[in-house]
Amino acid sequence: MSASFEQRAEELRQLLAHHNHLYYVLDDPELGDDEYDALLNELRALEEEHPELRTPDSPTQRVGAPPLDRFEQVEHLEQMLSLGNARNEEELRGWENRIANHLKRMDIAASEFSYTTEPKIDGLAITLTYEDGVLVRGATRGDGRIGEDVTQNLRTIGSVPLKMKGAAPELVEVRGEVYLPIAAFKALNERRAEAGEATFANPRNSAAGSIRQLDPALAAERPLSTWFYGIGAVRGLDLPTHMDEVEWLRDKGFKVNPDTDHHQGVEGVVKRCRWWEERRDELDYEIDGVVVKVDEKALWRELGVVGREPRWAIAWKFPPTTATTKLMKVVWNVGRTGHLVPFAMLEPVHVGGVTVTTATLHNEEDLARKEVREGDEVVVMRAGDVIPQVVSPITQRRPKGTRKPKPPKKCPACGHETVKPEDSVFTICPNRTGCPGQSFQAVKHFVGKGAMDIDGMGEKQALRFLQEGLIADVADIYDLTEERLVELERFGETSARNLVASIEASRRRPFKRVLYALGLPGVGYVTAEALADHFGSIDALHEADPEAIEEVEGVGPIMAVQISESITDDATWALVEKLREKGLRLEADPGERRQAGGPLEGKTVVLTGTLPELTREEAAALVKSAGGKVTSAVSKKTDYVVAGDNPGSKLAKAEKFGTEILDEASLRELVAR
Ligand code: IVH
Repeated sequence: MSASFEQRAEELRQLLAHHNHLYYVLDDPELGDDEYDALLNELRALEEEHPELRTPDSPTQRVGAPPLDRFEQVEHLEQMLSLGNARNEEELRGWENRIANHLKRMDIAASEFSYTTEPKIDGLAITLTYEDGVLVRGATRGDGRIGEDVTQNLRTIGSVPLKMKGAAPELVEVRGEVYLPIAAFKALNERRAEAGEATFANPRNSAAGSIRQLDPALAAERPLSTWFYGIGAVRGLDLPTHMDEVEWLRDKGFKVNPDTDHHQGVEGVVKRCRWWEERRDELDYEIDGVVVKVDEKALWRELGVVGREPRWAIAWKFPPTTATTKLMKVVWNVGRTGHLVPFAMLEPVHVGGVTVTTATLHNEEDLARKEVREGDEVVVMRAGDVIPQVVSPITQRRPKGTRKPKPPKKCPACGHETVKPEDSVFTICPNRTGCPGQSFQAVKHFVGKGAMDIDGMGEKQALRFLQEGLIADVADIYDLTEERLVELERFGETSARNLVASIEASRRRPFKRVLYALGLPGVGYVTAEALADHFGSIDALHEADPEAIEEVEGVGPIMAVQISESITDDATWALVEKLREKGLRLEADPGERRQAGGPLEGKTVVLTGTLPELTREEAAALVKSAGGKVTSAVSKKTDYVVAGDNPGSKLAKAEKFGTEILDEASLRELVAR
């Protein structure tokens, strides 16, 4: 094999690792997604042709491992410890007193040691083993001594370095926490609730659920992230303080919390704990306290471990985000797709710093699964700015005579009779166009973030415009003018001007966002994007049958039928036509996607070797623009192989299968047809 391939592969691995670090660890990317993908595809193609170039730390190895039957058990080289708790200042001072006394007995004065503080991440504890800087294993904490080998799932997380930066010790266990950002948790639960699946009680469970399952493809779908905070067993490295550990981890490419701090005395520690407590709701990850450690690692051994809790560290715990209270009544709302949505009226309870009186019960299925009843004592959770939710009933304390709540026979918003279609787990209000409840939810979704994102049009305005007859559906938003708005009571000229400007700006949102904004059942942002990419226009989607829709990534047979039914529904289609009149984009820009109806539509193309003029990326873009799909391996399903100089084994395979072989010129001809 030519040394230049080897060199290029190494170069690509380094480049990709660098950009990966910028994106996932530093949150400061330099490349666009397309540019990153082009590099990744080049490396993939290179490895495909020369499998011996594929290394375990190659970025191509993050995804694609097959599902496992079960997890292997792994013994941690050094035990993963727990932490004792301090629930208030007094308990924290008690801890520091014990440490000071303990060390005094060894003639170590208070001036000789210091403390560190860092957030206590409420996620899933993990340990990563690196040998000579390469990730060889990732495991859960388990009982502290033995955990589960979840390497293949952890590899899919962008902020987990497959290889450390720079020089590396012979062996090191890196300790940290996997978490799902709160926004992603909310989106995930919304999607699951809409699809009738069980929702996760909190971000922690969703992270744990993503890692402790056997299919890495599922883990790869979830935007999991990590914070690293320590080192377990190590050979060939000596770091005297915890701050050194943190700095070292940062240097090696690990994501460490930028607000980790150092304090000479306990006063600073207390102040910092309160600072974290105040910031808690502003973070996009969940924390349940602050971890306080003695900074000098030499003292860790002196102080020792009691049971599984080290004396040299403690967790300052925040007040809990769960509480129990009585569920007085289950009330039903109507959602944007007509589903009846239950929520709980609670006896007021103080949780996570606020008084909560209502909480979500997600959907009919979830309510039945959790067996929540009116009159039950329930566990309520509130975290960050997530809507408070009923986690579970306390069935042991269930009073006599409670009954399962049932969805109402009449729609709470319009009074229309509700129905439960035979094949559905949800009761719905079938009054799609005439139900004010559904209209309100539809408008709220349409103008929201990720959809048309119309600034200045929140829930309040949506409700008001509907009630005052300014709009009857989402398309009418585009007829709102400054003159009509200022006629409303208490609606100022500036607000009117700004709102009209943001409505105007929203007309240019790309097709995928319009499709998402339509709010078809089960079509979240990711699915909308996939549909837009696949079909390229609302008309193509409208014409597609369920089989064709099922070909879209992430769409199963049930969802395909649901999408097909909802897009061809008369009321939906009438709305689409109305939106078309308003000038909204119902078609993707060329270059945004594969071209439908192009000369290569439905064709699979493999590129191999060096083409005379086009780079691999340009050739791939050309194929895509003609509606074709580029794949890396030749199979019976491949329609064309485009071969250049030094084509390699793919050409031989194509000859074997009798696949049509093109050169650059004939590819250009084909595309130009
Ligand atoms: S230090 C003795 N630091 O909390 C050292 N742990 O109750 C123990 N955790 O399972 C770990 N954030 O997974 C440490 N900044 C942090 C942490 C942290 C979360 C978890 C950890 C452990 C649990 C201990």
